[in-house]
Amino acid sequence: MSNLFSSGIIGIGSYVPERVLTNHDLEKLVDTSDEWITTRTGIKERHIAADTEAASDLASLAARRALEDASMDPKDIELIIVATNSPDYMNFPATACVVQDNLGAVNAAAFDLEAGCSGFIYALTVADQFIKTGMYKNILVVASEIMSKITNWDDRETCVLFGDGAGAVVLGRVEEGLGIISSFLGSDGSGGKYLLLPAGGSRKPATIDTVKNKLHTIHMDGKEVFKFAVKVMGEASLKALDIAGLTPEDVDIFIPHQANIRIIDAAMRRLNLSREKVYVNIDRFGNTSSATIPIALDELYHNSSLKKGDCVLLTAFGTGLTYASMTLRWSK
Ligand code: ACO
Repeated sequence: MSNLFSSGIIGIGSYVPERVLTNHDLEKLVDTSDEWITTRTGIKERHIAADTEAASDLASLAARRALEDASMDPKDIELIIVATNSPDYMNFPATACVVQDNLGAVNAAAFDLEAGCSGFIYALTVADQFIKTGMYKNILVVASEIMSKITNWDDRETCVLFGDGAGAVVLGRVEEGLGIISSFLGSDGSGGKYLLLPAGGSRKPATIDTVKNKLHTIHMDGKEVFKFAVKVMGEASLKALDIAGLTPEDVDIFIPHQANIRIIDAAMRRLNLSREKVYVNIDRFGNTSSATIPIALDELYHNSSLKKGDCVLLTAFGTGLTYASMTLRWSK
């Protein structure tokens, strides 16, 4: 299909809750140590939402910043897609509809997209199709997570990994040659059992026992997810680059999903990228699931580390299991 229009990021913002939980704080909750968490994951601290905050609250704050950055009124937005694994409600209404109401985006359609930690790239890819074909001009894509509320705080293997936060972009028309160049999406549902919330859905509705047994929290086989991630991060990146007619040497900045510094290092080695080209902020935020990439992009943009035309590679993996990669030429 030939593209009628080029689509790219024309506004960006993020928000993380104020409260910081350090590895030393975690030492008081479970049998762990700052040394173990730092060496095995690269994480030093993460932000944790207040009891009163839901995913839509973080999403709306990040979205307002993105709209302000784009100098755009919420009424100009025609579609809102929220990528989340920790929605306000199980299972409806969609968090995107809550955000639509919070923002007063009265002309926008809204839906959620659930693709694990790959959700932001999946959502950008969906939004890209609407803009390329001319159906919509301005789309708000938000990734928002309150992982702390679906975490089992007695499980040391998972509770040290995750953090809360949100990132948002306004996707709009940009000049040809800039914006989203390629994307590659994949999944392997046979690995769904390695990372899931066992109860609360139609498979195992909530009962007193499911609550007692903490089946509404993250259950993960860390080793299996790790093996999958190391395999797909490199493969997906190479696919997205290949579709764009690019090679790793063309990449100015690589933003990998921030799940574990050892997974990031493995992807960096596979792509033969130098450390300066790989953005890492996992030490300060932990794994904010689908929000890691837009939060990192927003930091880079506001640090003035992105120049118009820079080749940016985004790659993620997550529950599903899913994986996704995208190349773009920075368009702001
Ligand atoms: N503190 C101290 N010790 C710990 C902790 C902890 N927090 N967690 C596990 N250990 C112990 C284990 O019990 C084990 O002890 P043993 O040797 O006595 O049995 C030892 O440390 C080693 O455990 P491993 O599981 O082998 O540790 P590993 O090096 O694999 O690291 C980790 C575990 C960090 C979970 C890793 O497997 C990982 O990062 N996996 C990927 C997880 C991931 O990315 N998930 C997010 C997916 S994205 C999404 O969609 C939500």
